[in-house]
Amino acid sequence: MNHTGNNRHWKILLVEDDEDDYVLTRTLLSEVRGNRYDLHWATSYDAAVHKISENSWDVILVDYDLGSHTGLEVVKNVSASGCHAPVILLTGRGSYETDVEAMKAGAADYLTKAEANSLLLERTIRYAIEKRQNDEELRKSRDELRKSRDELEVRVRERTQELEKANRELIKAEKHMAMSRMIASIAHELNNPIQTIENCLYLLSNDIAGNDSGQEVLDMALSEARRIATLVNQLREIYRPMKVSPMQPLDICEVLSEVKTLIAPHLQHQNVVWKQRLETESYKVNGILDQLKQIFINISLNGIEAMQPHGGELTVEICRDALNQKIGISFKDTGQGINEEDLPKIFEPFFTTKDKGTGLGLAICYDIVQRHDGNITVESSPKQGTKFTVWLPEKTSSQ
Ligand SMILES: Nc1ncnc2c1ncn2[C@@H]1O[C@H](COP(=O)(O)OP(=O)(O)OP(=O)(O)O)[C@@H](O)[C@H]1O
Ligand SMILES: [Mg+2]
Repeated sequence: MNHTGNNRHWKILLVEDDEDDYVLTRTLLSEVRGNRYDLHWATSYDAAVHKISENSWDVILVDYDLGSHTGLEVVKNVSASGCHAPVILLTGRGSYETDVEAMKAGAADYLTKAEANSLLLERTIRYAIEKRQNDEELRKSRDELRKSRDELEVRVRERTQELEKANRELIKAEKHMAMSRMIASIAHELNNPIQTIENCLYLLSNDIAGNDSGQEVLDMALSEARRIATLVNQLREIYRPMKVSPMQPLDICEVLSEVKTLIAPHLQHQNVVWKQRLETESYKVNGILDQLKQIFINISLNGIEAMQPHGGELTVEICRDALNQKIGISFKDTGQGINEEDLPKIFEPFFTTKDKGTGLGLAICYDIVQRHDGNITVESSPKQGTKFTVWLPEKTSSQ
C-alpha cells in the first residue's frame, strides 16, 4: 500500500473490458477531493489474473460482465491467489442475487454502475480498504495470540515434564528412605537371634568334641552363622540412624588426595592409573569428611572393578556449576560400562552384577549425597566406560 504523507495514495486495479466504462471510472475518481488514486487497467480476465499476481493493489474494481468470463471468477481468483486487496464488483444492474453471489465469492462490496458517482465510489473504496485493514489487524492479533498460546503450551509442557521428573526423583528418594528404614529394622531384629544361634552352635561344638562328622557339620553351621552375623552387623552399621556429626568446610582436592592414598594399593594391583589435573583454585563444600571419603572410595572401587582384568584409566575431575552453586566431582573409567536396562537399578540396595558384591556401595553413596543436599549423575556407554559425577552444594564465603 502506498502512503504519501497525509495524502493517501491508493493503487487501484480496474478489471473492465469496456473502454467507455474505464474512462468513466477514471473521471469519477479524478473528481474525488483529497484522495489520490493511481488507477491501472486490465482489459480482460487473463490480463487481470496476470496483474493480480503482482499482489500490490490496495483495491480491485471488477466489472461483473467480462465477455467469456464473469467478474465473480476474478473475485475467486483474487482469494485463491492469496492477494489481500478487497474486491468491489461493478454491475450493470443491481439485484439481491448478484449481491449475495458477490459476497459468497469473497467480494468486499458491490456497486451498480448506474448509481455510481464520485462520492459513492470514493466512499465504497474507502470503506472496503478500511475494513480490509481492520481485518488484517485482527488477523495479525489472532496470529500473535495463537503464537503466544503455542509458546505457552510448550512452556507448560516443559514445566510439566520438569515437575514429573522432580516427582519421580522424590518418589525414588522416598522409596530409598523407606527401604533404608526397613533394612535397618530387619538388621536390628536379626541381630539378637543370630547371636544366640552363634552361641548355641559354639556350645554344641564343645559338647560333641571327638565326633568328626558332627564337628564338620557344626563348623560349617558356625561359619555360616558368623557370615550372617557379619552381614547383619554391616547392615546395622550402614543403616543405623546416622550420627549427627557436624558438617565442616572441606576442600575437595584434599579429600580426593586422601582417597587416592587409601585406594593406592587397589590402583597398583589392578593396573589402574588415577588421572587428575593439578587444580589452581580451591573447591569448598560443607560436609562430613568420612562420609564424603566413603562415596568417593565406593565409586572409585566400582570404576577399578569395571576395568578388570586389564586395568585402565580413572580420570578424576572437579568442576563448578556456577548457576546452581554446586561443585561436581567426576570419576570417569574406561571400563565395561553399564547396560541400559541396569542403569535405573544401580542405586537400589542389593542390586549387583558381581559374584561377590553386596550391591550396597552405590545405595550408601546415594543416601550420603542426599543428606548433603546433593545428587549423583551417571553417564555410561557399554564397552566404553562410565562417568559418575557427585554434585555437592558449594560452600560460599558467607556460610
Ligand atoms: N563404574 C562402573 N562401571 C560399570 N558398572 C558399574 C560401575 N559402578 C557400578 N556399576 C554397576 O552397579 C552395580 C551396583 O554397584 P554397587 O557399588 O552398589 O554394588 P557392587 O559394586 O556390586 O557391590 P559392593 O556392595 O561390593 O560395592 C554393580 O554391581 C555394577 O553392575
Ligand atoms: Mg561397589
